[in-house]
Amino acid sequence: MKPFTITSFEEYKEVYQDSIENPASFWEKYAKTFDWHAPWDEVHSGSLDEGNVKWFEGGKFNITENCLDRHLEEHGDKVAFYFEPNASDDIKRGMTYSDLHEEVCKFANVLESKGIKKGDRVAIYMAMTTELAIAALACARIGAVHSIVFAGFSAQSLADRINDCDAKLLITNDGLERGEKLVPLKEISDEALEQCSTIENVIVCQRTDTDINWNDDRDEWWHLLMEGAAIDHEAVPMDAEDPLFILYTSGSTGKPKGQVHTCGGYMIWTSYTMRNVFQVEEDDVYWCTADAGWITGHSYIIYGPLLNAVSGIIFESTPTHPDPGRLWKVIEKHNVTHFYTAPTAIRALMKEDIKYVNNYDLSSLKVLGTVGEPINEEAWHWYDEKIGNGNCPIVDTWWQTETGGIMISPLPGVTKTKPGYATLPLPGVQPALMDDNGNEITETQAQGDLVIKQPWPGMTRGIWGNKERYMETYFTKYPGNYFTGDGCRRDADGYYRITGRVDDVLNVSGHRLGTAEIEDAIDDHPRIVESAVVGYPHDVKGEGVYAFTICEGEISDPEAFKKEVNDLITRQISPIAKAGKVQIVSDLPKTRSGKIMRRILRKVAANETDDMGDISTLLNPEAVEQVKSGKAY
Ligand code: WT7
Repeated sequence: MKPFTITSFEEYKEVYQDSIENPASFWEKYAKTFDWHAPWDEVHSGSLDEGNVKWFEGGKFNITENCLDRHLEEHGDKVAFYFEPNASDDIKRGMTYSDLHEEVCKFANVLESKGIKKGDRVAIYMAMTTELAIAALACARIGAVHSIVFAGFSAQSLADRINDCDAKLLITNDGLERGEKLVPLKEISDEALEQCSTIENVIVCQRTDTDINWNDDRDEWWHLLMEGAAIDHEAVPMDAEDPLFILYTSGSTGKPKGQVHTCGGYMIWTSYTMRNVFQVEEDDVYWCTADAGWITGHSYIIYGPLLNAVSGIIFESTPTHPDPGRLWKVIEKHNVTHFYTAPTAIRALMKEDIKYVNNYDLSSLKVLGTVGEPINEEAWHWYDEKIGNGNCPIVDTWWQTETGGIMISPLPGVTKTKPGYATLPLPGVQPALMDDNGNEITETQAQGDLVIKQPWPGMTRGIWGNKERYMETYFTKYPGNYFTGDGCRRDADGYYRITGRVDDVLNVSGHRLGTAEIEDAIDDHPRIVESAVVGYPHDVKGEGVYAFTICEGEISDPEAFKKEVNDLITRQISPIAKAGKVQIVSDLPKTRSGKIMRRILRKVAANETDDMGDISTLLNPEAVEQVKSGKAY
């Protein structure tokens, strides 16, 4: 695999050129570094125009053999995962590659004994524990399609996801502890399943002492099933284009969309990006703090690290439990060399007393990473100086659920970094900026909508059950290109700086939320006639949720009203989507065609009301003054 770990900027430029000129031979070379049962017919086919891109079709293999079996001889005794539980202690809990392999084989046998077959969908709604990774990998081993649902989502969100993909089996915990909070996962699952007719079995992994209800016809304990399971399991051969998993993510309209990632392209993309962006060496310890319920956890806690036989950490807790020194404590405890987190965590922790950092020895660190949202310069410098001691390159990695893995990022020690810039595309990635007329901007220094011009192996192959929406969301605005939904600036060095979403998607603490789904939730309030949700700048979360609501009759207690609104959001989506501000208005500014002019609401929410821009096309210009002068709670 050596030729693909890029170690100098000269080499980067050469490899980049080659990847763009000869994509087939470039990716074929990389694909050949994996174990396959049968070779592919064609390296790639299809186009972004038609939304039918395929990679390595006809090739047969199983991703878990490449994550586990292949490493056993050389790395069987190496730790695959250290588990760091919610409660802080000094015990190191390492699970080796051999142990993980055995557990995955056993659980694969359990799933098959429950009648799960290749192509069936399995929902996973679990705490951040090693068992979550085992559950996902066992699905992959038998060819079942996993759909992991972040354990902070509500019963309604879980039910929506299960129903959208007709999942047959659910794997959950009795409950989980996160910080001081106890989340009753089984109880939430029971509530969700009242609306789900496709789930035949529920496997419950014990994690807490929570009292739970039990349905003898449906529920079984993980540990009891595992007791009797055989440790051998022959992995089911999969086609490179067979689906590996579905992961739901929010878009600008409607309910979350199930992004489909396939076995082959995703394996290649996560392995390749992990290797080059982090440059992890044999004895390194790599820690990504994300939750496995998001794509970052899929790609850079589970698949990417295992494909590269890296030792990683599964972290069950929060950055502030039991105190704001937790992340730094874990780095010292495990001699972490590579640390990957979100700007929101950095912004929250830099507000705390610096003693929480200085209490710990962080000298093991070599590379720092950030992901999920733009990082402001102040946070970048704090991360660089206080955590990296000025000598750890920061990789600001831009990518999305849809891209499968990292797309634009510095390579540590290779690319000169610049605060706030994701810098340059990885080989194989061809970004471009588009202007308002749909033309590519060819000047180096420019600003526009970010698109990707060429298919890449890791890209989403579809929205589960909805080809039309897939085409419309990604391939219609700029035909022949993949549209990211992000705005972007390119500087004189050709470096890319992501400016944020240009659609109605919010990024709250690195969590992606659709304004439409939040509006849907709050419109259920009996007094709300119409609502419009926009983002506003928030110094820790990056963006906060701001809800404008038109109500029937007088709202005498706006604080209580806000709580009711947030209870609805919590029930239907998740507490992560709660509105930081709620404003009651009598009218919303609309265009003559009846569309809410969100640009104006965003200005009001950001408190930038001096220049409201052109409002001459409004149906009801008087609404602007009224919204401007209102009060938010
Ligand atoms: C959106 C994708 C990437 C995995 C986690 C989020 C924003 C992501 C960066 C970055 C600026 C970033 C974009 C993107 N984003 N990384 N380094 N700098 N913005 O995945 O939930 O699919 O969200 O996150 O707006 O479109 P996601």
